Amino acid sequence: MSQQPGAPEARFEPMQEAALDAVVALERQAHAHPWQRSHFSDCLHSGYQAQLLLAGDTLLGYFVAMQGFEEVHLLNISVAPACQGQGWARLMLDALSLWVRGLGVEWLWLEARVGNARAIRVYEAHGFRTVGRRKQYYPASHGQREDALVMSCRLQWPADSVKMPA
Ligand SMILES: CC(C)(COP(=O)(O)OP(=O)(O)OC[C@H]1O[C@@H](n2cnc3c(N)ncnc32)[C@H](O)[C@@H]1OP(=O)(O)O)[C@@H](O)C(=O)NCCC(=O)NCCS
Repeated sequence: MSQQPGAPEARFEPMQEAALDAVVALERQAHAHPWQRSHFSDCLHSGYQAQLLLAGDTLLGYFVAMQGFEEVHLLNISVAPACQGQGWARLMLDALSLWVRGLGVEWLWLEARVGNARAIRVYEAHGFRTVGRRKQYYPASHGQREDALVMSCRLQWPADSVKMPA
């Protein structure tokens, strides 16, 4: 990570309702078609895995993931525009992967807009491969729709080698 000397260390904190003003503000900066506050609230009420990445009081990014039967589905990963290109998404994907393997689950899934080349590159670098395409999945500008790539990543290290602090 390209942290400045003397800058506060980055840390993860569970996303809670009280953080949603900051989360929604970042979401609006990062996405042309942002999630609404209710999307985040619903995920929290459903007990999904949702983590903030913070440095001091600054919100660098967050992710939200849903545990399925034999896979975990990454629903949202976002980095503040001013903090992109510094490896924060990679760090969040590593943390997510560690949690997923700790559950004894091998597969991570996600959807990405076909036009989101940057995100797709980050996912591919993490080991995701495209396994399908959902036509007209996302809303797009001017009433149009955009296809989604369905991507999956097999996490291959042994689950019993992963220990997360309680
Ligand atoms: C997609 C997104 C999450 C990526 O976040 P990010 O923190 O910028 O990603 P990373 O920094 O981990 O990786 C991006 C690039 O920075 C590079 N990088 C990694 N560490 C770096 C460092 N220390 N210094 C400079 N660059 C670095 C990576 O190699 C990568 O380069 P590449 O694109 O040429 O392969 C972010 O752009 C974002 O929030 N976009 C808007 C929301 C979005 O599209 N979310 C995904 C929906 S599917």
